[in-house]
Amino acid sequence: MSAPDRYAVIGHPISHSKSPLIHGMFAEQTGQAMSYDAIDIAPDQLATDLKAFFARGGKGLNVTVPHKEQIPALMNSLSERATLAGAVNTIAIGNDGELTGDNTDGIGLLTDMLNLKADLEDSRILILGAGGATRGIVQPLLQAGPQLITIANRTVAKAEALAAHFDQAGNVFGSGYDDLGSKAYDVVIHATSAGLGGELPPVSDSIIGADSFCYDLSYADTDTPFIEWVKQSGCKRAHDGLGMLVEQAAAAFDIWRGIKPDTAPVIARLRN
Ligand code: ATR
Repeated sequence: MSAPDRYAVIGHPISHSKSPLIHGMFAEQTGQAMSYDAIDIAPDQLATDLKAFFARGGKGLNVTVPHKEQIPALMNSLSERATLAGAVNTIAIGNDGELTGDNTDGIGLLTDMLNLKADLEDSRILILGAGGATRGIVQPLLQAGPQLITIANRTVAKAEALAAHFDQAGNVFGSGYDDLGSKAYDVVIHATSAGLGGELPPVSDSIIGADSFCYDLSYADTDTPFIEWVKQSGCKRAHDGLGMLVEQAAAAFDIWRGIKPDTAPVIARLRN
């Protein structure tokens, strides 16, 4: 019998990653013969270790912090969504040995939001934060047909630059946290990296209504600071990013294995 196909997630640090558990459940569910490890790669080893993984027969990689933005330069080709996101979270090797970089983060978020019955068509969406995470989700959100997307950030120039990057594709605006007005948004997405450290963007809770759909890209075993805050503000629809994590993994699994796993039982098992 031949050895199972090898996959892994690379990052630095990586020991906390739930990806091996998620892909292990997908493989079991779909009967795929594959292994999936977590590999710690320091930034100065990235190019060498990546090459070595595939030279030894590896079939695919997921990529997490801090490597996502460095990977595009190491690929033979990029998907359109990875190009737009400026980042890669999924690498696949072709029969010719060529490496293709893709990005399933945005579709993972969109799928989870739709699972959770978010109504995105004609909605007013606010994204807090203008870093790499935001860049990866704007295009998929635009595909759901919102009325507008406002990107608010501490460093306003970064929000404006990111909005300009997407302005051919839809109504995307950059803003500071002070200039958001007082009208509640239909959808509020927290995408800063301050999330789990306890700090929150300084925005008025008037931007959140009882029926706003609030989503934190971060997740934790207990409510994240953002989720705590929006619940205190009276929001009844607050969700963390665990579902997005599982959905981006499912999209990667589909790229590699040509099978879309059933995500609901995997999300439920991780919640427990
Ligand atoms: P990069 O900006 O290098 O892509 P990132 O981790 O993808 O890094 O983005 C970090 C995001 O979290 C940014 O929007 C950042 O705001 P600034 O651009 O103003 O730095 C935001 N962020 C990080 N710490 C924050 C804090 N304490 N308060 C508010 N926003 C914060």
